[in-house]
Amino acid sequence: MKKKIILMASGNGSNVENICRFFEQNSEVSIVSVYTNNSKAGVLKRLTAFGLKGLVFNKESFSNGKLLQSIEQLNPDLIVLAGFLWKIGADWIRFFPKKIINIHPSLLPKYGGKGMYGANVHKAVKENGENETGVTIHYVNEEYDKGDFIFQARVKITENDTPNVIASKVSELEHLHFPKVINTLLKQNDNEV
Ligand code: GRF
Repeated sequence: MKKKIILMASGNGSNVENICRFFEQNSEVSIVSVYTNNSKAGVLKRLTAFGLKGLVFNKESFSNGKLLQSIEQLNPDLIVLAGFLWKIGADWIRFFPKKIINIHPSLLPKYGGKGMYGANVHKAVKENGENETGVTIHYVNEEYDKGDFIFQARVKITENDTPNVIASKVSELEHLHFPKVINTLLKQNDNEV
């Protein structure tokens, strides 16, 4: 049986595109749906190349259980948050324990939590004079960026790196590792059954 992934994103969608490309030729994994809370999100345009259509939802269906209900019906093996900004409700976590994962553009627990997303993270890293940063892939729990870690990768920062340079270094790491980590998780789940 094919493994089923659901992707959720709020913005640009470079990770979503990269994940779609990674699994495009994989006969054992299928991206069943891509959801966004933002009808203007760049991610929507990136999907056409893969024959996928993004589904836009609003705050109401996200919070009142309707969206969760339709996702339950798809019976996904993994729900992947790839730049998704809304907080996942406790009902989602109860229904999909250890099946919702997120990627964060820093070495958590540093630079995580509310307000720490996108450029804010890289600016804070720069302001604090860090000499390394990285990415964290983690399970999602009720608190922003607090779930158990699955994977981290690091990259050096030099003195001259601007927040933009730091962002592109992190983005490169994300693209390199995120699809592989997803693939590994799907295979692990297989062995557990
Ligand atoms: C990534 O940096 C990811 O770590 C964070 O949101 C960003 C999404 O980037 N959660 P993109 O939309 O995939 O380009």
